[in-house]
Amino acid sequence: MKILLTGGAGYIGSHTAVELIKAGHSVVIIDNLINSSEDVIKNIKRITGTEISFYKLDLRDDFSCVFSGHVFDACIHFAGLKAVGESVSLPLRYYNNNLISTLNLIKTLENHNCKNIIFSSSATVYGTPAEIPITEQCPKGTCTNPYGWTKWVIEQILTDLHVSDPSWNIVILRYFNPVGAHQSGLIGESPKGIPNNLMPYITQVASGRLEKLHIFGNDYETPDGTGIRDYIHVVDLAKGHVAALKALKKSSENQTSDDNGLLSVYNLGTGRGYSVLEMVNTFEKVNGLKVPYVIEGRRAGDIGICYSDPSKARRELNWKAEYGLEEMCRDSWNWEKNK
Ligand code: NAD
Ligand code: UD1
Repeated sequence: MKILLTGGAGYIGSHTAVELIKAGHSVVIIDNLINSSEDVIKNIKRITGTEISFYKLDLRDDFSCVFSGHVFDACIHFAGLKAVGESVSLPLRYYNNNLISTLNLIKTLENHNCKNIIFSSSATVYGTPAEIPITEQCPKGTCTNPYGWTKWVIEQILTDLHVSDPSWNIVILRYFNPVGAHQSGLIGESPKGIPNNLMPYITQVASGRLEKLHIFGNDYETPDGTGIRDYIHVVDLAKGHVAALKALKKSSENQTSDDNGLLSVYNLGTGRGYSVLEMVNTFEKVNGLKVPYVIEGRRAGDIGICYSDPSKARRELNWKAEYGLEEMCRDSWNWEKNK
């Protein structure tokens, strides 16, 4: 299949590009490089040995030129701004970028008769989860920040779109906490400025770029008091998209009328939670490094425990995460030290 990847130069998009090519698909990437660089495209080529069609374009502009050279079977929509804290101080920037680009994308795909889309959503739509492990049915729509709201509103837009035109095939993927990097060490996550997320903070402390890790709270109701999350290796996450695409393809090939397209939502996580201290200890053990830390108060807006029930994806997509915490820590460090 020929797949349009929006935001394909980013962290998750680049790993997905590699896995799609490995699975025999061809990819075309649109990215405005606001949070990535053209080197990523070169490194996808190096890993896969395949030429990549890349367009440096903003999805909010007219990008129909891309369709003059390609006929797409499906689109995977990664593009968006994703920094939670920044979204609180710059909400309009987030609503503008994430919503306008998605609306423009849907219209453009429709104009070119491509009605198959996979959307990158987030566990953030569950807000403070009503149940653990979190199933897809868990209550949603109580987001705590503008970034989260953009994800929830886009899910709603896609659902409404499917009601109005059921010939669309739509898969919504809710990611838990992606970490790690491609084993080659050529692509990975490159947060700008001081990282907000745990793993990039740990790797930057290990490399000496940051002095010590600040652990936000050790008084949660967890075995060691620190917060628990469902970390998932980004390569496993990328493979989840290949599996979702298979389901999309099957649905679109079996479509006998204009009203039986697919609308499905899946959690992509491991189903296993690890605490902050478990992350630090495993990172130190696997890589033979020290990660100095101090315990601080809780971070505003944080929850104690968050992990997925990924059984729906296993049942329906025949996908499950394979990598464990040790590989996540090893590959995160391999990327950091090669940067
Ligand atoms: P990323 O920032 O690395 O990648 C997003 C890419 O989109 C970047 O390369 C950026 O330049 C591009 N982009 C942004 N706005 C654009 C626009 N208007 N036009 C064209 N390109 C644009 O982020 P990521 O971690 O790879 O995340 C990919 C998607 O997954 C995002 O939608 C994000 O919200 C979602 N997600 C990420 C996480 C995570 O922890 N990384 C968790 C849940 C959901
Ligand atoms: C964050 C985002 C969430 C997003 C998710 C995955 C916030 C409030 N939420 O959630 O929207 O979907 O990433 O990208 O930012 N921690 C420390 N010290 C640090 C950093 C983190 O102790 O320097 C702890 C946190 O308190 C938490 C755990 O590590 O217990 C994981 O934090 P983080 O990586 O930021 O992910 P989330 O909080 O799950």
